[in-house]
Amino acid sequence: MISFARGAPAPECLNVELIADCARAAVEADPAVLGYGAGGGYGPLREELGARHGVEPSRIVLTSGGLQGIAFWFEELLAERPGRVLVEAPTYDRPLKQLALLGAEVVPLAMDDEGLDPDAFERELAVGGVSFLYTIPTFQNPSGRTLSPHRRRRLVELAAAHGVPVLEDDPYGLVRYEGEAPPSLHELEGGELVTYASSFSKTIAPGIRVGWFVLPAPLAARIEARAVSTYISPPFLTEATVHELIRRGAFEPNLERIRGLLRARRDAMLGALERELGGRATWSTPEGGYFVWVELGADAGELLTRAEAAGVTFVKGSDFFPAAGGERSARLAFSYASPAEIDEGVSVLASLL
Ligand SMILES: Cc1ncc(COP(=O)(O)O)c(C=O)c1O
Repeated sequence: MISFARGAPAPECLNVELIADCARAAVEADPAVLGYGAGGGYGPLREELGARHGVEPSRIVLTSGGLQGIAFWFEELLAERPGRVLVEAPTYDRPLKQLALLGAEVVPLAMDDEGLDPDAFERELAVGGVSFLYTIPTFQNPSGRTLSPHRRRRLVELAAAHGVPVLEDDPYGLVRYEGEAPPSLHELEGGELVTYASSFSKTIAPGIRVGWFVLPAPLAARIEARAVSTYISPPFLTEATVHELIRRGAFEPNLERIRGLLRARRDAMLGALERELGGRATWSTPEGGYFVWVELGADAGELLTRAEAAGVTFVKGSDFFPAAGGERSARLAFSYASPAEIDEGVSVLASLL
């Protein structure tokens, strides 16, 4: 099966030697990482990330993968400010499932090629009763789109004017193949209302399960308390491994290597789409991340059934909407398959279409 479904890095992205070496060095240097510790994570890594974001280390909470932190954040916010939850449509499916489990009323906001439509945000703010906005502004999962700089400013102004908290989920921002990074919402706003979340899943390895949150101080304390009662402390060994990898100056070179491997896959995907579907379908053209969003002009569920029988899989667009939507769209992940498989897989999809 050629998988365009897996939002995971290609096996070559995972630097086994480096990670193994850093893990050994980390545990030998500090055997305490084999014990329990602070619920907010391994101190030296919190200090490192605090310095990167210009905040006190106590405002950094390391979570067991970014997704666990998202669940904590949603639970805290919905308890503090019950109300409607605004999300991009489409958006990452797992947070949608978390929100459904919490019984939240989820309101989809329209997007276009420039990302979330700030007018749609403004309209919902005017209706009122908003708990928070969950957004993935850079190389969004599933669309691959990036919120433009002027929309970032407008979004932050609107959130501040209405006092509405925002969760900026940014696991892909550093996985950039070209172009200049726009400022984060967190930087633009100053970190009072906007929580920034990211993870080392895409820049080191997903199996280490190290996510991080940059939080307003009172919320950091509450989320840390929630972490303690859920899992006592997060996996210190892998957090210390990340710290060691950064300490020895290996993070950037390794990231550059990952970018090279994934850039080739992004290029293979965009090239194959143009060759096979040019003029028949439309798609996003991301400067980074893992995903391309394709408007198929045909039913995605029906295509998926036939594609899987022919050895190709993807995720249908409707999985990324809280209600109706996306029935004629697909998320194609280019991160996992090889460039040759991407070529072949897109040819198969085009012939079925
Ligand atoms: C937008 C987004 N947020 C969060 C995550 C969670 O990442 P992790 O829990 O591996 O840190 C993912 C993973 O694919 C993602 O795409």
